[in-house]
Amino acid sequence: MPKIFFDSLSKFYRTTGKTIKVLDSITMGFPERGIIVIAGKSGVGKTTLIQIIAGLIKPSFGSVFIDGVEISRLAAYELAWFRRKKIGFKPQTPVLINQLSVLENVALPLLLNYVDRDMAYKAAKELLEEFELSERIYHKPTQLSGGEYERVSVAQTIIGNPPIVILDEPTAHLDLETSKKVANIIRRKQREIDNLYIITTIEESLIEDADSIFYLINGKLYDKSFK
Ligand SMILES: Nc1ncnc2c1ncn2[C@@H]1O[C@H](COP(=O)(O)OP(=O)(O)OP(=O)(O)O)[C@@H](O)[C@H]1O
Ligand SMILES: [Mg+2]
Repeated sequence: MPKIFFDSLSKFYRTTGKTIKVLDSITMGFPERGIIVIAGKSGVGKTTLIQIIAGLIKPSFGSVFIDGVEISRLAAYELAWFRRKKIGFKPQTPVLINQLSVLENVALPLLLNYVDRDMAYKAAKELLEEFELSERIYHKPTQLSGGEYERVSVAQTIIGNPPIVILDEPTAHLDLETSKKVANIIRRKQREIDNLYIITTIEESLIEDADSIFYLINGKLYDKSFK
């Protein structure tokens, strides 16, 4: 079985008087490693799909398997452990901890995994330098621009090198040049670790650099692998 496998995955949202069908019985596997881009127009269900993969919401029908484990059947404590070990997730609207500095926010995933303090801060500093944020490491999140906040959140998500990194629109608040730089960092990190990135985006530089691209159209996922 592939690393990530969807078996008749469906998701409906029911609101007053109306049912929205977002994912419609998707059965397919994802590549084991590399960069996967999920593209599709606004409101089509990209965020829904990756939230299901990350175990944040449950399917209406069908299942998602990650490394052979059906994640929607895990108990809350098993899911928490599974996510901490396997998944890095940056939501479309990321949330940093306001009381901590940029440096502390980025080092946090390492500290939570018992990495030595000095090593964690050193790694966070180096990564923030790659994101051209060396001048902002002692700022609090409220003292950042939107694009800086976004980059800090991406750094926080990838620093621990999780086996599966999921980024919901990592460059939505960035100009073209900065987007390209972020795309380059993502590519370099992916090559270094040989892990799996799942990225929703409409950004050309991220799409161009992907190993696989999937389009979400009318509840179905279409594989447009081009490499
Ligand atoms: N909790 C919810 N309850 C009801 N409807 C929802 C809910 N979450 C999302 N939707 C609807 O489901 C559809 C898919 O939303 P989703 O956020 O997955 O789209 P998206 O492809 O990520 O869009 P965007 O590119 O704008 O981020 C949208 O039409 C949205 O209005
Ligand atoms: Mg979205």
